Amino acid sequence: MPVDVVEAAAKLIAAEANARIEATGRFCVLLAGGSTPKSLYARLAGPDYRAKLDWDRMDFFWGDERCVAPTHPDSNYLMAAGTLLADKPDHALHIYRIQGELGAVPAAEKYEREILDYFAMRGIDQPVFDLVLLGIGEDGHTASIFPGTQALIERQKWVMAVPHRQPPPPLVDRVTVTFRLINSARQVLFLVTGASKADVIQQALSEISPAGRLLPVHQVQPVDGSITWILDRAAAGSISPGQTIAGHFSIG
Ligand code: 6PG
Repeated sequence: MPVDVVEAAAKLIAAEANARIEATGRFCVLLAGGSTPKSLYARLAGPDYRAKLDWDRMDFFWGDERCVAPTHPDSNYLMAAGTLLADKPDHALHIYRIQGELGAVPAAEKYEREILDYFAMRGIDQPVFDLVLLGIGEDGHTASIFPGTQALIERQKWVMAVPHRQPPPPLVDRVTVTFRLINSARQVLFLVTGASKADVIQQALSEISPAGRLLPVHQVQPVDGSITWILDRAAAGSISPGQTIAGHFSIG
């Protein structure tokens, strides 16, 4: 991934983390899965940023998880554990892992309780993440909210189980946060790279996709928060500056 995209994302996250720790004593972040964030996570854990972050005051959650063991190559936890969270004493990390190995429904119920308990312990009456990091699939999904699924219309739950039998792979059940949780965040950061995402980015920037259906990603509309898109040139494709886009965007 182009270094400037990774640097732009790392700089934004580090600044947000330190500002929130300064203001509230904690920084709670919802990590994205998939492959795009790998180099960002490695950068944050690397020599340029490691010492700039107050890891003991950072609380790591995931936006979604595949229902596999935490040692399985498809695990979003494992991807972050091997990059962002690598080489740190376990006791120094505050990790809230989605236990997908329990099965989607029990794991979703358990994770939702953990999230609600976390914010209640901080005297916050509902989940408000400082930062939600998201990717986007070529079908316009984000987290594990896929087109044509129940998760698109869920308005009560904060976390839900997602049966997943159709592409995109892996074809395993998922646990995902819902739009209710995403849209309650203070800041949402989309990190999107690669030419394969150029079409969906064009659709995401327009109000209605060519098929006339809104993509899942169109429902990311933080109530009080902001959206930042960080795209590399390949994903940005032929974006014209005049095109409407919710939030700020930078093209690396
Ligand atoms: C997942 C992710 C998913 C991901 C997109 C993009 O569990 O797969 O949460 O929403 O962000 O599918 O994936 P890539 O970064 O691999 O393109």
